[in-house]
Amino acid sequence: MNPLLTVSGLTRMYGNRVGCRDVSFELWPGGVMGIVGESGSGKSTLLSCLSARLEPTAGRVLYDTREDGPVDIYAMGEPRRRMLMRTDWGIVHQNPRDGLRMGVSAGANVGERLMAVGARHYGEIRAQADDWLRKVEIDGERIDDLPLTFSGGMLQRLQIARNLVTHPRLVFMDEPTGGLDVSVQARLLDLLRRLVTDLGLAAIIVTHDLAVARLLAHRLMVMRRGEVVETGLTDQVLDDPHHPYTQLLVSSVLQP
Ligand SMILES: Nc1ncnc2c1ncn2[C@@H]1O[C@H](COP(=O)(O)OP(=O)(O)O)[C@@H](O)[C@H]1O
Ligand SMILES: [Mg+2]
Repeated sequence: MNPLLTVSGLTRMYGNRVGCRDVSFELWPGGVMGIVGESGSGKSTLLSCLSARLEPTAGRVLYDTREDGPVDIYAMGEPRRRMLMRTDWGIVHQNPRDGLRMGVSAGANVGERLMAVGARHYGEIRAQADDWLRKVEIDGERIDDLPLTFSGGMLQRLQIARNLVTHPRLVFMDEPTGGLDVSVQARLLDLLRRLVTDLGLAAIIVTHDLAVARLLAHRLMVMRRGEVVETGLTDQVLDDPHHPYTQLLVSSVLQP
């Protein structure tokens, strides 16, 4: 068995400014990696490079394709990368409006993804959309409603359904619970944790919230100024942080 992702020396500069620098790690099937660090530490830059949305300045990301084993995601052709985005990868944006089509119904938002991978039977597409709306705790009666009428928490759950309906192997999430009320966050986290576990999904989750990392991630990478300063099992990193920056992050969470 190969790692799902093999990342080596990944670097992204913005002119002279460091986005992220010399990041290397492996992600195994079913593994959930959390990327934590304060604002500006390079989390989103790294996630974009990992998910084929931002070409790195140096380094490589190998993805273990079903057909040919590990392939460099930036060396493969655009059509193949697009196909992987539809079939193998999901992306959950912090702002659900970036990951949804606001002008079509909730059901269509989910069904569209199925059609993109070849589903043609209207009744089946609708049944699966309905099933997934229920999985993310959206009332089936809302299937024909536009997302415009949904609350923030519902939008985020709809975005999750749209991403998971095609059974991706790897999901990228950037602050999936950011911007939501605390009570709504807790419920969404609970749902996410259940789905990730039940589906055996591999995921990379960017968050500045250590409680989110604690709940969802098996392993953590702590970033500072674009570089990974500490990595390890989530509980170890949070309960016994070694790097002074991680110690600061952890202790600042405990203070009101
Ligand atoms: N499009 C961009 N152009 C120039 N600098 C950028 C751009 N995006 C991010 N940066 C810089 O890269 C660094 C990392 O940013 P980012 O990846 O957004 O961090 P985070 O997601 O942890 O807040 C910051 O110094 C930020 O100012
Ligand atoms: Mg960010």
